[in-house]
Amino acid sequence: MALPSINPTTTKSWKQLQEHFENVKDVQMKNLFAEDKERANKFTIKWDDFYVDFSKNRITEETLKYLLQLAEDVKLKEAIESQFSGEVINQTEGRAVLHTALRAPKTAEFKVDGINVIPEVYQVKEKIEGFTNEVINGERKGFSGKVFTDVVNIGIGGSDLGPAMVVDSLQYYKNHLTTHFVSNVDGDHVNEVIKKLNPETTLFVIVSKTFTTQETLSNANTIKQWFLKSGTEEAIAKHFVAVSTNIEKVKGFGIDENNIFPMWDWVGGRFSLWSAVGLTISLAVGYDHFDSLLKGANKMDDHFKNEGFDTNIPVILALISVWYNNFFNAESEAIIPYSQYLNQFATYLQQGIMESNGKSVDRNGSPVDYQTGTIIWGEPGTNSQHAFFQLIHQGTKLIPADFIGFAKSLHGNQDHQDKLTSNFLAQTEALLNGKTMETVVNEGTKENIVPFKIFEGNKPTNTIFINKLSPESLGKLIAMYEHKIFVQGIIWNIFSYDQFGVELGKQLATEILQEFNGSKKNEHDSSTSNLLNFYKNLS
Ligand code: F6P
Repeated sequence: MALPSINPTTTKSWKQLQEHFENVKDVQMKNLFAEDKERANKFTIKWDDFYVDFSKNRITEETLKYLLQLAEDVKLKEAIESQFSGEVINQTEGRAVLHTALRAPKTAEFKVDGINVIPEVYQVKEKIEGFTNEVINGERKGFSGKVFTDVVNIGIGGSDLGPAMVVDSLQYYKNHLTTHFVSNVDGDHVNEVIKKLNPETTLFVIVSKTFTTQETLSNANTIKQWFLKSGTEEAIAKHFVAVSTNIEKVKGFGIDENNIFPMWDWVGGRFSLWSAVGLTISLAVGYDHFDSLLKGANKMDDHFKNEGFDTNIPVILALISVWYNNFFNAESEAIIPYSQYLNQFATYLQQGIMESNGKSVDRNGSPVDYQTGTIIWGEPGTNSQHAFFQLIHQGTKLIPADFIGFAKSLHGNQDHQDKLTSNFLAQTEALLNGKTMETVVNEGTKENIVPFKIFEGNKPTNTIFINKLSPESLGKLIAMYEHKIFVQGIIWNIFSYDQFGVELGKQLATEILQEFNGSKKNEHDSSTSNLLNFYKNLS
């Protein structure tokens, strides 16, 4: 069954939201807090080890009522059911969307074309577990009999960002293996990585769902040539493994069939870290931690699937984001984790969110006349406080932000943790309350400086406070954003699981490359021609 195709702007709730917006657009959140002592409690969801406070938003109970009605009007419940039951909701590519099956328990049933995929998922998980254990405990060795010390993940986009972000985020849980990531076709990237490596003790994991991606195959071939300077063709079987749906192409590259970890076309690249694409995660932190990551995500799946919308974390966060994107015309959203471990989190989410919902054609194939995908950016606090926070506090743009924090530090330095958390809490309070002219004057500020020291406040934030960063809580957090993406795609009536927008550039790059080696001559605009000649003359 196809997803329903409902233009959100034609629903009754959207019209109610428009009218309501006119009444509340200038509302001051601090007044809302003053009027209702229960506001924070009303707008907080406590679930498992998550405390999600969305009270510091420009919303009232009425706003929420209409937003929740919007979710009903666009048939979100039915859409969730369609996704989890394996229907072909990625209609433009003719595929189911079942990354949730990858983290489901063994007893679950997820059917694709009438066949339960769980047994196959568990077969691959067992293969990941066995392989991981053999590498970590040194049973699996390189061609000269030495144990592996380094693992290199070769992939790009979803075949890089997810594993790289998780490995970095879970570095506290890491074992002795040193992990590296090669993604960019920029040869300096691969060279900088291989210069640190010993071919005898390095394992290469080539991750490419299609096994046709230019960047990944170029890097894999360069590494193979470098490796063959020390090892033989036979040694490749010991040092190269691949994760792909394209088994024939992998074999063509020279990889032993036993070293192929399959994945499925019902797993989208940017949602694939839960599959064998996460092999590098498993190698870096051990299979048990990898499995905990999956279990955490599965808990969030259950919450998303079963919880009423009014207490459903991904649904509420998605609706609030739609409120700012489509009614306040906010241009972007910031993600600010108060944990250095989540350094790569916003970058990772940029692909998840912007590749999924950066669409301008609706599910009927017609251009939309409303805003869709949000622009995502962010860096960890407190560093970002000393970088771009000035603009969030005193700039002209409205930037709703998610603040993500952990109550416990992993190394247990309480002094640092208290300082970090005080900043985490102070920033959302400052963004809410701002600083009035009266306060600035009372501080004894010189009259001509007063305007510059005023903070208008009323800047919206969500606070996602989690007990502790662990594989399980990270799994929940990632899955939370995955489901937020889904909800927004449903509301905006777009297809979130294709990515045709990345194709045109790839196609033209192939043509330009043919011009570099003289095999083709193309017509270009004068700007591109000049740039091409500039390069040809210098290279
Ligand atoms: O950027 C487009 C894209 O198809 C992503 O969706 C995907 O994650 C990435 O390229 C890598 O693709 P592959 O895993 O097939 O090499």
